[in-house]
Parts: sequence; C-alpha cells; structure tokens
Amino acid sequence: MDKAAVIGCPIAHSLSPKLHQYWIEKYGISGTYEAVEIKSDNLEEGVKGLIDHGYTGFNVTIPHKEAIVPLVDDIDDFARLIGAVNTVVINNGKLLGKNTDAYGFIENIRQQVHDIDFVGKKALVLGAGGAARAVIVGLLKENVATVCITNRTIEKAQALANEFQPVGECEVIPWEEKEVKLQEMDLVINTTSLGMDHFPPLDFNLSSLSEKAVVVDIVYKPLETKLLKEAKEKGVKAVDGLGMLLYQAVPAFEAWFNIKPEVTPELRKYILSEGGR
Ligand code: ATR
Repeated sequence: MDKAAVIGCPIAHSLSPKLHQYWIEKYGISGTYEAVEIKSDNLEEGVKGLIDHGYTGFNVTIPHKEAIVPLVDDIDDFARLIGAVNTVVINNGKLLGKNTDAYGFIENIRQQVHDIDFVGKKALVLGAGGAARAVIVGLLKENVATVCITNRTIEKAQALANEFQPVGECEVIPWEEKEVKLQEMDLVINTTSLGMDHFPPLDFNLSSLSEKAVVVDIVYKPLETKLLKEAKEKGVKAVDGLGMLLYQAVPAFEAWFNIKPEVTPELRKYILSEGGR
C-alpha cells in the first residue's frame, strides 16, 4: 500500500488530504494520504520518520517549503528556480524534491482559457512573495516575452527581477504605477494577499486593459474576488485560484500512485463543500 502525506505546521487546515483522499477513493487505489504535523525544529527527524515508515512521498507546506530544500537528495528544475519544494517523491530512501506550483498555475489557465498561447505575451504580476516566484517561473518557462513585477515593497520586486532575468525578460513597475502600462498587458495576475478573506480588496482599475487579456487571481477564498468580478464585468476572461490548488496536486498524485488524476467540476464542488475530511 502506498502511503503519502502533507507535512507542515499547523496542518489541520490543509485541503490536501481532502483532495488526495477523493482521488484515492475515486480510482480505487490501495493507498493513504494524511496530514502530519511536523514542527520546524523537528523537520529532519520528521522526514526521516516518513522514510523509515515506508512513505512513497509527501507534500510540503508552510513553514517547510524552503527549509526542506537542503534535505532532499535531488531537486527538479522548477523547485531549484522557485527555491522551494512542495512535493517530495521517496525512492529507495532517496528524496526527490519537486515544485508543482508553476505547473498548477499554468495548467489551470490552459484549462480555463483553451486558446491561450503564452509565447511572446506580456504579463503583469502583482506581488513578490513565495506565490509570485512560482507564477513568474511558470510564465518564463512558457516563454512569455516579459514579466512585469509590481509590489508594495519595490525592493522585493527588484530582487525577483534580478534573480529571474537570466531565465527571461523581467521588468519592475512601482506599485503606484501598476495601472500605467496596463493596455500593453496580455495577462494580469494577483499573487498578493489582497482580496483574500480577512484582507482588504485589491483596488485595481482595469479600464485600460485589452478585452483579449486574461486576469488571474491565485486567491480562492473567496472564489470570486473584487478583481475577478470587475474583470468579468468588463468582458475579460477571469481565472480563479482554486484550479491552481487542484492542478498542482495532479503531478504529485501521479508520482506517488501512478495514475494521473482528473480535475473535474465535481471535484471543485466537493473541495468547496464543508466536511468530507
Ligand atoms: P505568499 O507566499 O502567498 O506569496 P507572502 O510571501 O507573504 O505570501 O507575500 C504576500 C504578498 O502580498 C507580498 O507581495 C506582499 O507585499 P510586500 O512584499 O510589500 O509585503 C503583498 N501584500 C500583503 N498585504 C498587502 C497590502 N496590504 N498591500 C499591498 N500588498 C500586500
């Protein structure tokens, strides 16, 4: 029986068990997926415990995504570039660190905007935290022409632009000027906490945005943020953040259980429903 888990601290609110258990049941797999709380000062021991107990792999969430990097034996290109691991595959006691967040971000857009072609496009990324890193790497790997980064703390945007410039063209836009070049953007992505439950909304004037543009919010609580509502009102394609969460889990599940699971409307509904965990 293949055993998988999500490790983090706190871990009780993670949606990953509900998601992976749904697929385990749906595909009739003899496997388990559970939440394992591991505190920061016990990460190495905790991970060793999972290896010793024969786990096939695990997801990594807050606060261990960066701290686990030096503990893995091998790392994929995405995890190396993003500087964080969200998925570990255990093979003969060896740990392969992967990051599937960039895949989840891109695949979610592909599924919701069928004719999307990222090549040569210009994207505006709002925010410069951990989520922005995965989004920027995803966009650059898809060969967008330019990623414009804007952030309240401009130094963080500049640091990201400097870091990712070798991968592809990056430009910094001051937070106060984030709407100035909006008419040039093919994609606008919110990776900040603004718009999330318990945070203020993101005030962003979309009036100069092209009607062919796509607006993405990686926030999924609430599912429809003010940004997405205003995008829809303008007739612009709006992509919510729940799909990113669901699609980032696909390659992880496949690596552990050897079945590529499907993201369906039923799954979306189930994940949004209360209980079931
Ligand atoms: P995550 O891992 O989800 O990206 P994070 O690393 O804490 O979380 O990043 C949060 C992002 O939201 C940052 O870009 C942050 O801007 P700063 O770098 O200036 O802190 C942004 N953010 C949070 N609250 C904000 C606010 N009130 N106004 C503007 N940006 C905000």
